[in-house]
Amino acid sequence: MSGNGHIPVLLKDVLEFLDVHREGVYIDCTLGLGGHSLKILQTNPKAHVIGFDIDEKSLILAKERLQPFADRLSLYHSDYRYIPDLNIDFSEIKGILIDLGMSSFQLDSPERGFSYLHDGPLDMRMDQRNNFTASKVINKYSEPKLAQVFRDYGELRQAKRLAHEIVSRRKRDKIETTHQLFQVIEDVCRWRPQKGKSHPASRVFQAIRIEVNQELKNLSSFLERIILKSPKIARILVISFHSLEDRIVKQTFVRLAVQNDHPASIRILTKKPITASEEEIVSNFRARSAKLRAAERI
Ligand SMILES: C[S@@+](CC[C@H](N)C(=O)[O-])C[C@H]1O[C@@H](n2cnc3c(N)ncnc32)[C@H](O)[C@@H]1O
Repeated sequence: MSGNGHIPVLLKDVLEFLDVHREGVYIDCTLGLGGHSLKILQTNPKAHVIGFDIDEKSLILAKERLQPFADRLSLYHSDYRYIPDLNIDFSEIKGILIDLGMSSFQLDSPERGFSYLHDGPLDMRMDQRNNFTASKVINKYSEPKLAQVFRDYGELRQAKRLAHEIVSRRKRDKIETTHQLFQVIEDVCRWRPQKGKSHPASRVFQAIRIEVNQELKNLSSFLERIILKSPKIARILVISFHSLEDRIVKQTFVRLAVQNDHPASIRILTKKPITASEEEIVSNFRARSAKLRAAERI
């Protein structure tokens, strides 16, 4: 895998909102296969990138891909939520990018269990040092807790019915693979293809993935902490892929931009989120649900 299979989303807008021509440090909180970082390093010979990813396999591939720029690059296998606590010279930061969700490399690796399109174990861990997997959610959670995950993180209409069916089937046999789970979803949701609508399994898989990786936990406090640590004129960009994440980003930005009792910390640069053009969606299906919000530290 060369890493060239993953197309970075909203690339032109990301470079523009980062104002990437400025000399200094750019933090890529979710490096993935390094698509955005590669372009930052190619565009600006005076840019330094500090990249983080919680997935060690992605990090190894990104390191290989970004090798020609090794002298302007530092990479860390870490959860981005620790960044505000690290010993970094925050005064040099010009831009921070968070591209949430998964890379196509992760989605297309059957052994990671992220996609119902491939058969694989119910894993879904971004950080393989953890031992909490999707299988534990599916086979150990109580029925009400499962229903809550499907409802809260997947906004699934049939959350209760699906939870009930999973609990009843797992009494007979453990549900261990993505295709076994997919079959239960098919039986409960009885979905027929409709234009513009995705299979309910995508919501269910999203919900389990969010739960396994605790993806929404501390997102808002992380944004606030990293913004407050950043110097004036630093740009912060967040790309999200579902409404739950986007809502957190929007509300956090608004809270930091409109403060009644003390001065605002940021200026919001995107009144409405930036979305992909039809042309980009045709060439990169993953871009269809991407939303970019950007702000500047003031
Ligand atoms: C959408 S991909 C990033 C793609 C990247 N911008 C590119 O152009 O190649 C998201 C990446 O974020 C990583 N990730 C998810 N949660 C993370 C976390 N809490 N801390 C660090 N990385 C995380 C995933 O492992 C994945 O590689």
